[in-house]
Amino acid sequence: MISRPVSLAEHRENAARAALRHFGRAPSFWAAAPGRVNLIGEHTDYNEGFVLPVAIDRHVVIGATPRADRLVRLYALDFDEGVAFSLDDIIYSQESRWSNYIRGVAWALQEAGYRLRGMDAVLTSDVPIASGLSSSAAVEVATAYAFQVLSGLDLDGVQRALLCQKAENQFVGMNCGIMDQYIISLGKRGHALLIDCRSLEYDLVPIPSGCSLVICNTRKKRGLVDSEYNARRQECERGAALLGVRALRDATPSLLEERAASLDPITLKRCRHVITENARTLEAVSALKEGNLGRVGELMNASHRSLRDDYEVSCRELDVMVEAAWKQGGVWGARMTGAGFGGCTINLVAEEAALDVAEAIGEEYQRVIGIAPEIYICQAEDGVSAIEG
Ligand code: GLA
Repeated sequence: MISRPVSLAEHRENAARAALRHFGRAPSFWAAAPGRVNLIGEHTDYNEGFVLPVAIDRHVVIGATPRADRLVRLYALDFDEGVAFSLDDIIYSQESRWSNYIRGVAWALQEAGYRLRGMDAVLTSDVPIASGLSSSAAVEVATAYAFQVLSGLDLDGVQRALLCQKAENQFVGMNCGIMDQYIISLGKRGHALLIDCRSLEYDLVPIPSGCSLVICNTRKKRGLVDSEYNARRQECERGAALLGVRALRDATPSLLEERAASLDPITLKRCRHVITENARTLEAVSALKEGNLGRVGELMNASHRSLRDDYEVSCRELDVMVEAAWKQGGVWGARMTGAGFGGCTINLVAEEAALDVAEAIGEEYQRVIGIAPEIYICQAEDGVSAIEG
């Protein structure tokens, strides 16, 4: 049930062997991009609000060698699947969906005017797929980083994140906000990042010592997520228009109260989530900085209730997992994390209790739902970086 990380050295060894078999040579450059978990600030990024994610010690690793021509050859070790495309003719692939994150990034970089070299690249990962920990954004950011280094591109972390988001929005067709690509691009070991999704500035928030990030994967595949996600975005835009603000980031609780009667019940609930979630996120940052983990936990619990009741993006599996955590001693707070409709919960847990708590939550979830969850006890990691040595 408790799943341990694969070390970068191990990832690299496996991928190097695969590259030798597949391309006949070992990669000359290695990069690792982490997955991410969001502590609080859910469904606020596309409302130009605040988020507080952490890059975690689960990685997509890419090993790449530049080519003299415009060919990109890829081998995904975990799917045992190879595919190739030309940088002069980048089209969406129906057959090998995973390769669209790589194609999309190459497309977005070239759209922005960057000149790319071809490459042979092997990929492997221990970021769980389709679980709300941003495995796809990690593939995008790892790819952008590899192209950046091999082609000598001048690109900062925020630009890299924006181009990866563009790849996801316009090439892959998922209308996500900036949070995932941003934290994976710019995360810092030992820290969460408070990201202002309007100014695109961040503030480093140390994770206090003695607390563990326990992530519980419901293993429920997130079927509804794309259509419901887009529906929520539209409801928020409608809410902002009715409230007369540029984005829900600009609305205050008192403005919402004043105008409540002019909003339909659904729009009112969606707006209430986003407006209160932004406030909770900023308060959680102050509480974290003061080391007041009890308060951070209360805010996380309130975030879950708001996502469940007002934003309506939770599901039975997530609620059961969160309620199982709420019963445990040593848990400061627990909530669903990511887009919702399945995926993972994030639990802020006293370090000495982490293993016992993880097991107790897992057993309760399995008893009620009948599925053994996967649980990851995580460290806050750096964003994308080269693997040296
Ligand atoms: C997904 C999206 C993010 C963000 C979250 C919800 O992870 O990719 O941009 O909107 O959902 O907070």
